[in-house]
Amino acid sequence: MLNKARRSIAPTPLPKVSHGAGSYVFDSSGKRYIDGSGGPAVYCLGHAHAEVNEAIRQQLELIAHGYRYTFTSDPLIRLTELIQSQAGPGFEQILYVSSGSEAVESALKIALQFHWGKGDRKRTRFISRQRSYHGNTLGALAVSGFAQRRKQFEGSLFPCSFLSTANEYRPAIAGTAAQLTDYLAAELEQEILKVGAENVAAFIFEPVVGAAGGMLPAPAGYAAKMRAVCTRYGVLMIADEVMCGAGRCGSWRALAEEQVLPDIMTIAKGLGGGYVPLGAVAYSGRIAETIVAADGAVNTGHTFTGHTLACASAAAVQQIVVRDRLIERVRSESAALRQRLVASVGELPAVGDLRVRGFFAGVELVADRDSRHPFDPDLKLAEIVRARTLQEGLICYPVSGTIDGVNGDVVIISPPYNASDAELDEIADKLGRGLRLALADIGAA
Ligand SMILES: Cc1ncc(COP(=O)(O)O)c(C=O)c1O
Repeated sequence: MLNKARRSIAPTPLPKVSHGAGSYVFDSSGKRYIDGSGGPAVYCLGHAHAEVNEAIRQQLELIAHGYRYTFTSDPLIRLTELIQSQAGPGFEQILYVSSGSEAVESALKIALQFHWGKGDRKRTRFISRQRSYHGNTLGALAVSGFAQRRKQFEGSLFPCSFLSTANEYRPAIAGTAAQLTDYLAAELEQEILKVGAENVAAFIFEPVVGAAGGMLPAPAGYAAKMRAVCTRYGVLMIADEVMCGAGRCGSWRALAEEQVLPDIMTIAKGLGGGYVPLGAVAYSGRIAETIVAADGAVNTGHTFTGHTLACASAAAVQQIVVRDRLIERVRSESAALRQRLVASVGELPAVGDLRVRGFFAGVELVADRDSRHPFDPDLKLAEIVRARTLQEGLICYPVSGTIDGVNGDVVIISPPYNASDAELDEIADKLGRGLRLALADIGAA
């Protein structure tokens, strides 16, 4: 029996961050935390990497920011080459912004401007999915199936269609993965027909859902089937790889695994590794040419678009990722990360599903393994896990409401790509201890 009376640890003020070193973060009291989630799946090289810091220092001595209407820059050109060489063909244009939300806003606007340029001026509607997160600005939020973050703003969010989540653990229909993906692709087609293909600009999705679904990869074949439907109806595919991209899943593009090419792709977190804020939207030559032919240039951007220091910092991060073969490491060590997590928490009856792609893992917690029934949301399990793991000296990323906006608790583990084997052991070990304490707090141990 769960005991709601014992459900929460008194909220404590946030610790003050002092400094970081590799996979570790220290607070002002001297307490050390291992960064098991790279914050919110951002710090792909860990903290205070000497070479990235040196690249930032050198750039600052030259210039922090050359305004985009006046100058381009070597760092921007270098970063573009690094992205294009790792992402492969299909991303002839890249626009740099300062966050994932701005990247998504830009992606939506580029899709609209492409259709406008083609003369398809009614194509203004977007199709997204339930349990998705694309950002906190109003446009990005409008296409996010994330009830908790939309609530107070609903009236101002433009209309958007939301399809079923591609979730093999909690499938929309019973059957095989192939039947599920057929169903989901048919659902997209029906929605396009319902809205009218001539009105639909783009389908936006996270190839691996992040916070909204608790690290949720789509079943194999899903992206290819969705791609085929988009192509059939002239609907652009926007892959939001802000969280799952830039190597996190073991390939530079998460969708590369499925050999699916979106028309537009957003990237952010692991691109710059958190050293200087940076996001980007990469899109095809076909889109760029249409826009340039109609309007001369893409009609979006901000004061800090293509910020020189941010590009220099991200280029340093990406150079290290390439030089140290870190994506190969993420790929080859993924199975070992899974084994570590299975060994530390797999036997707990509350662990319903353990999913891993590269260095991106989700541990879904359930009240009943057989029925997959979630814990009572009033227990606030994710919050308790956060507090208990922090006490144990582990930073992880517990999320809640992952099933329907209310129910569902998942702990995300997304370590730096260069975390050592011993550090990965420590992450798994501390997760095991923190999770057991949290489950004991709610009477489920
Ligand atoms: C998939 C996805 N898209 C967009 C965003 C928004 O990025 P930002 O918080 O940098 O604005 C996030 C943030 O978590 C994300 O996970």
